[in-house]
Amino acid sequence: MLFYWNQDIVLCVFAFATLLSSVVGQSDNLGLKNGYITITTANFKAQIVRDAQVLASLSPAGGTFDFLPFDLISARAGNGQYHWGDITFRYREEGSGGAWTDGNSAAARKPVTSLKTGTGALAASNLAPTLPTTGPLNVTREWLNVSGDLGLRFTIENSGDSPIEIGSLGFPAEFNSIFTNRAAADTQRLCSLSDPYVGMHAGYIRANPVRGTGAALVVTPLGDTPLEAYRNLAEPSYAATGYGSQTFEGFYEWQVLSRAWAENEWAGVKPWNTPSSRTLQPGQTLQFGVRFSVAPGGVRDIDEAVRKTGTPVAFGVPGYIIPRGSPSQLFLQADSDVASMTSEPVASLAVAELSETSYSITPASTFWGRAKLTVNYADGKIQTIHYYVTKPAADTLGDLGRFLTTEQWYNDTSDPFGRAPSVMSYDYEARSIVTQDPRVWIAGLSDEGGVGAYLAATAKQAIQPDAEEVTKLEAFIDQVLWPTIQTDDFAVRKSIFYYDPSGLPQYSYSSAIDWTSWTSWNEDSAYAIDRAYDYVHVAAAYWSLYRVARAYPSLVKTHNWEWYLNQAYRTVIRGMQDDVGYNRLGLMGETVFGEILADLTREGLTSAASALTTSMRSRATQWDSEEVPYGSEMAWDSTGQEGVYYWAKYFGFANTATKTVNSVLGYMPTVPHWGWNGNARRYWDNIYGGKLKRIERQIHHYGSGLNALVLLSAFRSDPTDTYLLHVGYGGASGPLSNINEAGFASASFHSWPGTLKWDGYSGDYGPGFLGLVLGSGTYVARHPTFGLLAYGGTLSGTGDGGAAVVRTTGPVSRRIFVGPLGVTVTVDAGSVRSFSYEEARGSVSLTLAQLPGPPKAAAAVLWVETNNAAVKYRVSTPSGATSERLGWRIPLAANGDVVVELTKS
Ligand SMILES: *[C@@H]1O[C@H](CO)[C@@H](O)[C@H](O)[C@H]1NC(C)=O
Ligand SMILES: *[C@@H]1O[C@H](CO)[C@@H](O)[C@H](O)[C@H]1NC(C)=O
Ligand SMILES: *[C@@H]1O[C@H](CO)[C@@H](O)[C@H](O)[C@H]1NC(C)=O
Repeated sequence: MLFYWNQDIVLCVFAFATLLSSVVGQSDNLGLKNGYITITTANFKAQIVRDAQVLASLSPAGGTFDFLPFDLISARAGNGQYHWGDITFRYREEGSGGAWTDGNSAAARKPVTSLKTGTGALAASNLAPTLPTTGPLNVTREWLNVSGDLGLRFTIENSGDSPIEIGSLGFPAEFNSIFTNRAAADTQRLCSLSDPYVGMHAGYIRANPVRGTGAALVVTPLGDTPLEAYRNLAEPSYAATGYGSQTFEGFYEWQVLSRAWAENEWAGVKPWNTPSSRTLQPGQTLQFGVRFSVAPGGVRDIDEAVRKTGTPVAFGVPGYIIPRGSPSQLFLQADSDVASMTSEPVASLAVAELSETSYSITPASTFWGRAKLTVNYADGKIQTIHYYVTKPAADTLGDLGRFLTTEQWYNDTSDPFGRAPSVMSYDYEARSIVTQDPRVWIAGLSDEGGVGAYLAATAKQAIQPDAEEVTKLEAFIDQVLWPTIQTDDFAVRKSIFYYDPSGLPQYSYSSAIDWTSWTSWNEDSAYAIDRAYDYVHVAAAYWSLYRVARAYPSLVKTHNWEWYLNQAYRTVIRGMQDDVGYNRLGLMGETVFGEILADLTREGLTSAASALTTSMRSRATQWDSEEVPYGSEMAWDSTGQEGVYYWAKYFGFANTATKTVNSVLGYMPTVPHWGWNGNARRYWDNIYGGKLKRIERQIHHYGSGLNALVLLSAFRSDPTDTYLLHVGYGGASGPLSNINEAGFASASFHSWPGTLKWDGYSGDYGPGFLGLVLGSGTYVARHPTFGLLAYGGTLSGTGDGGAAVVRTTGPVSRRIFVGPLGVTVTVDAGSVRSFSYEEARGSVSLTLAQLPGPPKAAAAVLWVETNNAAVKYRVSTPSGATSERLGWRIPLAANGDVVVELTKS
């Protein structure tokens, strides 16, 4: 987002930097000049550096893909640059209460002392030379053959004569996530991404090629090695790799013990797991380690690979962001029985056993926020599963709409920038609207960072309209969006707030702000209309109001539906003109272009529909010819895939569509933790849209909701691929977690363990919420292991013999997908309260209701899509149903429900 870099410029900048650093010379503290030791197991081929005995290369046996940046090892051979095999720790004399002493094998490297290898060990060393300050702690390290997998084990002995408390212990985790200086095709070919499951003895790290295909890797506990915390590592940033930049997020470590951090750097933060330390008596030893295993089938095979190591696996449906008052399901697979389960806060989650391995998890009706479920297994293992409990979906949306249109409602009509009235960016920590920010777009109602608020407010009306909110948003559209954010030929400005103290002497720019950055545009730069991304937000706002005007005509006062749909259409088309940049790339949220096209077609506006089709086809054709069609403003990104997928699928470019689904799976993990489940990789946008500006793995930034669109759409086309649904639904739920109890929605959650909080700014929240609006719904799927499942609803019946009945609980109760039948049903008004289907007959029955509060709709239009074009459905009940807009118009009762029967025709 909004960094006027492109791939070529990045390559130039870094090529120059690389040249410089090679002239300066790179230090070789690792001892690369003395070569490597090759170690092989049945499942891996690995190389460790001979002198340092840290891992330099790791490939699954028989493959060439390297999970480590072996090709950049000479740029990562300096002190303070971490590798697998390194160890960091903190210790103190027990009971001293004194300061912790740090141990860090990477800080000042010296060749380690090679030891004779014992049984199963492939290499062993004593780390004393490279751990000069570790007093009585004697640390040895072994690389092991663990049943054909690669093991890494540390033995720590207290060789002194007093007890020692170890308050931190971590294993740095290195993967090839260095995109710096690589062409896009090389990044796709060489790089991988990793994410943790901070789940104690069930914790693990998953890694997979960025392209989303090929074998994946899991790192699981070896022995009693819980993953208690996941700590970001500081490294020196050399130009050759750019640690901690847009092209290299940086690395983390698996922390087994974290008390020494929790009490100091992280004081006041609620950690994922209870911070712990361990005491070593004189002469006592402790062993900790990890095991590397291959998931040969790739990302879909990760749970299975984890399970094969004896590590417990949890599978939560619909995921781990769950509304209070509704039951969710949890499946556990472990070697040992469950001895007990507890939730924290106490009684936040009620657990009921459904079978030997499945449970229902129901959040208490008054609870809200983070909740942790701890599973104690009979063999002593502890697993933590991390939930985020929201209010019921309709209440959450109600809170959001209210907060946006009251607290974030800006009505100072003396504003010289013409921003009133509008829904503006907000700082929840300061409890105030952000009227000034040096990144002008945040206060300027454009770019993701500035549209987040009004885009969420308008998109919300498309699924849950509110009369008062619609009235305010119409005022915003008439007085700000159309006259000022747009030009009279439908172009969209990049910001309507700008920095011009001489042109606006009467305006008091904050003297607390440094206005000298490139982000503090003057009027000319702010009013530029050359950024295609900005057109999507405006089009989405109009389209949302079109939907309101169509289904609830009495709510709109200033314009009719024709006007809104035309504004949406004209804005899209204007964004495709030559004077607008980036319009040949996939754009964030452009699934709404597809909705606009569908509605133009349904309304019979054929010439507009055909112009839009022509425009989109030309882009899709281009993408189909490109090896990596996912460009953006950034050197690497996770925003282009949504648009590329949408149009590749629409125009039948099957290879590009499949490649794009894989690409999304490459950066969107699933683990039993609300923060990482379905959390598409984003790590730089705090710089452009957040209050706390830093490079950091973001939790549920807008990538979650937008990339979910790809996976949910792909799942609807192939309902046997339940992995797509599992990850996609996790992503679509992300934007619910951002909404706090008051209704404020934050841009993202900070994942560094010293922070663990929602960002203060609303920032660029909106695009992710648009993803939720366009993709969420209630999905029914038949899982090969767990049977029939409902995501976004509660299920009764199996669907095998009699009917399966689903009560909807998701935020968008206007879209249902019946996987076993391959049928999607959507309505444009009211809500689907429940539905049932019979697999044998292929019939579907829906109960349509009005929305819980006002307004009431006279009718809903219902559309049915089937995966098998030969199968068509007709509405057999109610008899008053008529054809409308390529669907069925179903009269709704003012009070009470209407049952709709769909029969194969
Ligand atoms: C440290 O452990 C090694 C075995 O790995 C042992 O040979 C050595 O004597 C120990 N050093 C001390 C100071 O106890
Ligand atoms: C690794 O261990 C397995 C059994 O666990 C054994 O079959 C194999 O021969 C060992 N391989 C090496 C290279 O030691
Ligand atoms: C602006 O909004 C505030 C707070 O909602 C309200 O008190 C005030 O009357 C409004 N002013 C105008 C001019 O509408």
